[in-house]
Amino acid sequence: MLATFFVYMRLNLFFFLLVCTASFAQQSPDSQPSIDTLPYVDASPERFVYDDDLLSKSFHAGRRQALRDLMPNNSVAVFFASPVRNRSNDVDFEYHQDPNFFYFSGLQEPHSMLLIFKEEVQYDGDSINEIIFIQPRDPSKELWNGRRLGEEGVKRILGFDKVLLNEAFADFNIDFSAYSQLLYSTPLDDIRDNPTSKGDLYSLVKHFEQKVSTKLTPENELMLDEMVAKLRQIKLTDELTLMINAIDFTCAAQRELMKALKPGMNEYEAEALIEYVFMKNGAEHPGFPSILGGGENSCILHYVSNRRELKAGDLLVCDIGAEYHNYTADVTRTLPVSGKFTEEQALIYNIVLEAQQAGINACKEGNKFWAPGNEAKRIITKRLLELEIIATPTEMKLYFMHGTSHYLGLDVHDVGLYGPLKRGNVITVEPGIYIPEGSPCDPKWWNIGVRIEDDVLITDDVPEVLSSCVPKTIAVIEALMKEKSLITR
Ligand code: GLY
Ligand code: MN
Repeated sequence: MLATFFVYMRLNLFFFLLVCTASFAQQSPDSQPSIDTLPYVDASPERFVYDDDLLSKSFHAGRRQALRDLMPNNSVAVFFASPVRNRSNDVDFEYHQDPNFFYFSGLQEPHSMLLIFKEEVQYDGDSINEIIFIQPRDPSKELWNGRRLGEEGVKRILGFDKVLLNEAFADFNIDFSAYSQLLYSTPLDDIRDNPTSKGDLYSLVKHFEQKVSTKLTPENELMLDEMVAKLRQIKLTDELTLMINAIDFTCAAQRELMKALKPGMNEYEAEALIEYVFMKNGAEHPGFPSILGGGENSCILHYVSNRRELKAGDLLVCDIGAEYHNYTADVTRTLPVSGKFTEEQALIYNIVLEAQQAGINACKEGNKFWAPGNEAKRIITKRLLELEIIATPTEMKLYFMHGTSHYLGLDVHDVGLYGPLKRGNVITVEPGIYIPEGSPCDPKWWNIGVRIEDDVLITDDVPEVLSSCVPKTIAVIEALMKEKSLITR
């Protein structure tokens, strides 16, 4: 057997060398096409924008103007693209743009920098109030890593008037000390781009810091963060459209899992099914690592290893969110792997459901951000006391140790001011009860972990539960779990 394998490998090597020799012999250096003239280089970048429902250039321009309106006089705001993050030798993590950089530019590429000026400035004979520095077109890099918009694409597709190549920033004549406020967030400290390259993020940040004579003050950083949070916490119609898509894909995945789940399945199979439904619908990826915690893992809040086999009698906490055009959903359901909740599981489940409904009812414009959480805590404390799982109200924290709400949007834990709830906020309401093995209560409750999470739009009237397409009462979940999944059959 082994001998046959070696003969096979040697034959393969022989044919490989033959093919290589033949092809090199065919191509003299003169006849080889130059990489600079590869056919796609001159092609219009519009041809390669495959989605027709991306945020428009006027959306991003409108966000820049809204920021400008909030900026103090004589100030400039500076944003950097996310770094390319190395995973291991020759492999990078999938690139994901910095949410602020995306919000204000729409650009999905690394090694870029955006300057937004409060007032018009003169540059090269033009009066401008923003400049974007981008990576250049590069046929050999694009051959390996994908197409770039280049100056023309960024002008036409993203609507910027002043686009410079990132290499130009080193010699860019700007006196940051002339501005009374320089607003920027400290660039990430894990930049790992090649420090010798002239036109990457490292060099943009290095030259920026050289041009800034005074150190960034924490007040300036805070000021920018607050202005951005004030904008990003209110979702505009175009953003809501994308979020509703992401939430609908997540609903479809939750529903499909309800039909497919059965004992013997692994947590990773549940994860695979979820992410298949996300991407089959057009999501680019999950907005955060999918949490599929069964049995004892239902009590680990951010469990992501997803390796355990699911057994009859387990609860499965499924906390997931599809990401669509940079906007993410975040919806949690807790399912009985057998298709039927036990008596103890049902009791805990219904407490969490009651707490969640009380939290959702508190999602009213003008209420404190923490109002939904306070309502949920009040219910959970009362019910756990009734069941004698706790003896005093303060023990409630043993079993419900997190808040109920965060903003949702370009980040799963999105930015916002955490002030009174405002129309256009999208927040989660996600109470939970987690009773790990060994907890100081009757062992019949052990390994019950339940979380129920919906995405809620604050309106001037009743809150709109954007994820209401996923069932959450015991009767409807158990009924749906009896149906057959078309994917797993
Ligand atoms: N979906 C995870 C979380 O909200 O923390
Ligand atoms: Mn959440």
